[in-house]
Amino acid sequence: MRKTFIAGNWKMNLTKQQATELGASIADAVSQTNDIDIAICPSFGYLDSVGTALGESTVKLGAQTLNANDAGAFTGEISGPMLCDLGCSVVILGHSERRELFAETDQLVNEKVKAALTHGLHVILCVGETLEQRESGQTNDIVGGQLVGSLANITTQQMASITIAYEPIWAIGTGKVATPQQAEQIHAHIRGLLVNHFGDSVAQATRIQYGGSVKPDNAQELLAQPNIDGALVGGASLDCESFMQIIRHG
Ligand code: 13P
Repeated sequence: MRKTFIAGNWKMNLTKQQATELGASIADAVSQTNDIDIAICPSFGYLDSVGTALGESTVKLGAQTLNANDAGAFTGEISGPMLCDLGCSVVILGHSERRELFAETDQLVNEKVKAALTHGLHVILCVGETLEQRESGQTNDIVGGQLVGSLANITTQQMASITIAYEPIWAIGTGKVATPQQAEQIHAHIRGLLVNHFGDSVAQATRIQYGGSVKPDNAQELLAQPNIDGALVGGASLDCESFMQIIRHG
């Protein structure tokens, strides 16, 4: 049985005070919940203060990307060891905004995945197609290519530290959510690819989150699908009550 995993991707939002207060409120609200894994991913600058606000909470602290190098002349970047130093245990990699706006290729995402695993970080690996790709019937191929490319040379043992997030690009920040059936179909396809590459037991143990306009009013039906094991939530994770309502559906 896969444990539901709900993560909030705060992207480049909030002030330090808002981020710290939101972290504290979420920690407070989930203090009794242990049957779901929860992570919040603030921007780099707030990791330290949000981590402090989380205190001893079971809510995990995550980052939104990393540089595959440990240290050196990489202006503006942050490394795996730095994220660990800041208290992170999770990192989102291969988000479509990173792929599209910062030209991240599957090969680069793969290097980042390996670096994150080396430092003991749990990876949320994002994959997803554009509207154009969906409309031309390429969804399975695009998502499959991203998955296989980003997971090149990853071992079956390492897969225990990886969660996949299926995020159709056309559903991100648009209010246009994939129907539970559309999402379930791709999640089942992803699980099939995991069976081919890593075997049945890894595929059955790997969690696949859905992301893209997840809100309190659509979370229940999405999370009820057999192959949807959690959610990667953007906008709705910026408000404690709406994030908590999604968690309660998990
Ligand atoms: P929204 O929930 O705002 O659509 O964002 C989804 C997302 O990109 C999470 O990583």
